[in-house]
Amino acid sequence: MARIVGGLTTSHVPAIGRAIDKGLQGEPYWKPFFDGFLPVHAWLKDVRPDVAVVFYNDHGLNFFLDKMPTFAVGAAAQYCNADEGWGIPVMPPFQGEPDLSWHLIERLVEHEFDITTCQEMRVDHAFTLPMKLFWPEGDCPVTTVPICINTVQFPLPTAHRCFMLGRAVGEAIESWESDKRVVVIGTGGLSHQLDGQRAGFINKPFDLRFMASLVDDPQWATRFSIHELVEKTGTQGVELLMWLATRAAVPGPVRKVHSNYHIPISNTAAGMMALEPAS
Ligand code: DHB
Ligand code: FE
Repeated sequence: MARIVGGLTTSHVPAIGRAIDKGLQGEPYWKPFFDGFLPVHAWLKDVRPDVAVVFYNDHGLNFFLDKMPTFAVGAAAQYCNADEGWGIPVMPPFQGEPDLSWHLIERLVEHEFDITTCQEMRVDHAFTLPMKLFWPEGDCPVTTVPICINTVQFPLPTAHRCFMLGRAVGEAIESWESDKRVVVIGTGGLSHQLDGQRAGFINKPFDLRFMASLVDDPQWATRFSIHELVEKTGTQGVELLMWLATRAAVPGPVRKVHSNYHIPISNTAAGMMALEPAS
């Protein structure tokens, strides 16, 4: 059976793509952010995942406001990136893992998750930038299964529902007949609000409590309604649901491999965590 080697979470601000393109990783503005990933590169060399299952939210590249699935699972052989208008380079296509995609889809539907199955899917900055942050050198060495959670258009799924989705995904990965090693990735957050009267809103105490909860009390964030999460983290900070699903997918107690928290990148509290099963 397949094995989950751990969970990785990160923010996915588009400006990161420009910094990578221009080679600004060592500049004072960027260094505290990019340095946070160095221990994770060493960890990834050690645990050698073959496949990445990636929870993220599409921002309008694949789904637009006219059709917005709450949960969508990719089932393509390949996932293409495209220009979203940020002025960052389009990345080469990412290879899929259709056998795992279909296994996940079947198990999720069996577990009463009414997902949208996507045999074609374009991946935006929320997918591509984290892959480059975790694997900066050369071609992406893992195959991928993208899973989108809607955090863009209300109504959004509850934190509890996202936790249960993550748990079901984790159980499905572990029942996949394969000897492959799987890492689960979640991208988004942490606190940020890009628009409206509270534009620029950041909530460091809440972010740090949330990050700690993923290790010592994984269901802590499920006590909050979506509106409470927006109030505490901002309209886009609610992307932290991807972190929750990722934590839920990693079985049992976890050990923190590394974490980093840096304010601000653009208008965003940029966080990163690497977790692995404790046993
Ligand atoms: C920005 C966009 C995002 O999708 C995000 O999660 C954070 C920041 C931005 O435009 O700065
Ligand atoms: Fe985002």
